[in-house]
Amino acid sequence: LARGVTEPDLKGRHVVVSAGGTREPLDPVRFLGNRSSGKQGYALARTAAARGARVTLLAANTALPDPAGVDVVPVGTAVQLREAVLKAAADADAVVMAAAVADFRPAAYAEGKIKKKDGHDPDPIVLVRNPDILAEISADRARPGQVVVGFAAETDDVLANGREKLRRKGCDLLVVNEVGERRTFGSEENEAVVLGTDGSETPVPHGPKEALAETVWDLVVQRLK
Ligand code: CTP
Ligand code: CA
Repeated sequence: LARGVTEPDLKGRHVVVSAGGTREPLDPVRFLGNRSSGKQGYALARTAAARGARVTLLAANTALPDPAGVDVVPVGTAVQLREAVLKAAADADAVVMAAAVADFRPAAYAEGKIKKKDGHDPDPIVLVRNPDILAEISADRARPGQVVVGFAAETDDVLANGREKLRRKGCDLLVVNEVGERRTFGSEENEAVVLGTDGSETPVPHGPKEALAETVWDLVVQRLK
């Protein structure tokens, strides 16, 4: 397929993309968060819209302009993101979980700002597990044939870890990034391998996040047929 000429191969489809990173509040002014900028998710939303899809973008704490023609739903925490994903996925042809979801949240939320106490050590922060949204929507598809895509940032044995994660999550495709210094977070570029449950491995060379997004949609379109 010639690039630069956009084929409306997602016309008539509804796709849901999550982007950014969840924030888990400790008190009214503090949270546990992560460094996801949301740029990869926004690139997925823009490219899907350009290919004709109706796009719902679930934006977790991003500071990026709303892509034109995309329905943007802001969310804060993992629990809020789960609610928004379940709602939007009900009639979706594909769901792409590009958001970095906090694995844990503080067990307690302090209604008032946590204060220092002279002569006292700080209280430890107790964490509880967040729901695994990707595993849940993969196990319980809202529609038959719905394509579910996950993202994973891995170190060490990246492909073996990715294969294991694809199996564990139950999604159809897993985009695996190798993380390291100066890679991925906040960057305009990305490099990845997309693993499929059919055993496929699609390498995406270092390049703009749009290029990775186009490859993801190519693989989704193949599976929607
Ligand atoms: N994910 C999710 N819900 C969670 C955690 C992760 O939906 N509570 C999704 C992410 O959006 C991503 C994928 O799962 O698409 C993989 O995230 P990752 O953090 O790599 O997976 P984990 O199972 O949390 O594994 P790890 O222990 O390596 O963090
Ligand atoms: Ca995780």
